Amino acid sequence: MYKDTGCGELRIADAGKQVNLAGWVHRRRDHGGLIFLDLRDRSGITQVVVNPELAPEAHTASEAVRNEWVIQVTGQVSRRPAGTENEALPTGEVEVVAQRVEVLNPSKTPPFYVNEDTEVDEYLRLRYRHIYLRRPRMQANLMLRHRTVKFIRDFLDVRGFMEIETPILIKSTPEGARDYLVPSRLYPGKFFALPQSPQQLKQLLMVAGFERYFQIARCFRDEDLRADRQPEFTQLDLEMSFVTQDDVLGLIEELYIALVQAVTPHKHLQTPFPRMTYAQAMDRFGSDKPDLRFDLPLADVTSAAARTGFQVFQRAAADGGVIKGFAAPGCGAYTRKQMDDLTEFAVARGARGLVTMALEGDGQPPEALSLEQMRSTVARFFTTEDIQELARGVGARGGDLILLAAGGVKTVNAALGALREEMGRRLGLADRDELAFAFVTDFPLFEWSETDGRWDSVHHPFTAPWPQDVPLLDTDPGKARAWAYDLVCNGFELGGGSIRIHQRAVQEKVFQVLGYTLQQAADRFGHLLEAFEYGAPPHGGIAMGIDRLTMLLADADSLREVIAFPKSQSAVDLLFNAPDEVPESQLLDLGLRLVERPSEEPPRQA
Ligand code: AMO
Repeated sequence: MYKDTGCGELRIADAGKQVNLAGWVHRRRDHGGLIFLDLRDRSGITQVVVNPELAPEAHTASEAVRNEWVIQVTGQVSRRPAGTENEALPTGEVEVVAQRVEVLNPSKTPPFYVNEDTEVDEYLRLRYRHIYLRRPRMQANLMLRHRTVKFIRDFLDVRGFMEIETPILIKSTPEGARDYLVPSRLYPGKFFALPQSPQQLKQLLMVAGFERYFQIARCFRDEDLRADRQPEFTQLDLEMSFVTQDDVLGLIEELYIALVQAVTPHKHLQTPFPRMTYAQAMDRFGSDKPDLRFDLPLADVTSAAARTGFQVFQRAAADGGVIKGFAAPGCGAYTRKQMDDLTEFAVARGARGLVTMALEGDGQPPEALSLEQMRSTVARFFTTEDIQELARGVGARGGDLILLAAGGVKTVNAALGALREEMGRRLGLADRDELAFAFVTDFPLFEWSETDGRWDSVHHPFTAPWPQDVPLLDTDPGKARAWAYDLVCNGFELGGGSIRIHQRAVQEKVFQVLGYTLQQAADRFGHLLEAFEYGAPPHGGIAMGIDRLTMLLADADSLREVIAFPKSQSAVDLLFNAPDEVPESQLLDLGLRLVERPSEEPPRQA
């Protein structure tokens, strides 16, 4: 027997027991006589004491041992001498006095410390993933992920949901990203596409009569990566028949409240989850996934700003644009450099510029403010009345900093929305232990793509328009509202879904707006259109990002901290060195020939 007890399990009540432990040497201290080994396994850490007088052979073996060696220890649990207890460890009141220490496998010196949560270069983290995953924090993150998924499965099972697996080798299921393609050997020149989500498959399961489906589903999207995006990620995918939007949102709200209470009870949330329309979210926060842990609302001050003598504002208003802004409380003493940094931040996010007005003082209301109190590079264009009116508009008082941007509403919202979140963080307004969930509803059905010169789906092409908006598909598609909803939390989009189209004529109409000919629609989506003619029930659903959820629950900064084997920022697997070249013969089998074969491997980086 290698072990009969986990290293993290021993307590004072075990004192006197004979135990076998096996695990990794977390830390070794040689006190020139006694050797202390912190032995680690999945359950935790126990201190092992090796006394040369009591166990000379064990002591000799322990002299050679180094960090991350795998060893087995037989010994007796005993109470630590008074004053040497370690409160930081659950096993800190006891130690195991070794009788026998056996090396099961030595280890090379690891490329970074496992026993310290120090910053490790991203390349090393991914290249030596099997070692990085040994860190107690990573073990805890993956345990949290396991418990999250298990909770979800149990919760949905009790409510009559069935988990059904859907294929990975399938045809394009568009979610707005590029497909990963898999060439077919049996049908040279033809390709499978990996699913961007099981969207059409779950709808077909509704047509098939399952009524309540879910899946912990792997999705594949070839898109530019960010901290909250992976090319391969996991969704809680869910679909229900005979439901309205409220049924879906009610279920998700109940699930997430119960889940947080079960797996991260130290986190607090506001219930019921606030709901706001897409228009409200954009207007007030400049984002469709606002961080609601703090307010800092944006205000539209177009008319007040256009009345000032500042030409940039006058011109923006005359061109049909907006002037919006917000007050950063208590930032009135910002230096010129700090304000320039904010301007740079806004410009990097698309703004043409940023007007910063620092207000001296201590909480005076707008009507008590004067021009002399205001510091700004454009101060000369404003009067005291202007300052008072702008301050009133954005809710600023003496001692605050007013931040204003002018231009097209989309650009202004994007820049100020990002700046609002940045200021929330800088001012420490975002509580790490709060999960500010909210539902965003009433998205537009389509958005105009300037680059392609056609309409795109805001969600995906299977989303139903509001029934009363169906006629708009013919007359004014841009005005049609979608029966779609998102769950957002702390500035992230955690999930999205919709009530679906279940009638062929409406689905064809939507494809037509998106620019498909009837023939193209039939070629790509004929299976779904046909299914709608065989008694498709009304249905709807949602998909929730499991990686993003776990990232928030674990207080991690990137999805890579909650996925066992993630891809790097440049979409490669650094451990396996994938993607990789394949032998010519394998390509031949698939009927493929490379137009260009890179003569040299591009450098692999994180
Ligand atoms: P959507 O595309 O909004 O909807 O995706 C749902 C949720 O999946 C997560 N997500 C991602 N997580 C990590 N990396 C990515 N690249 C990534 N892309 C998306 C997000 C997102 O909110 N079929 C529809 C759902 C439906 O209509 O039911 C869909 O996939 O948390």
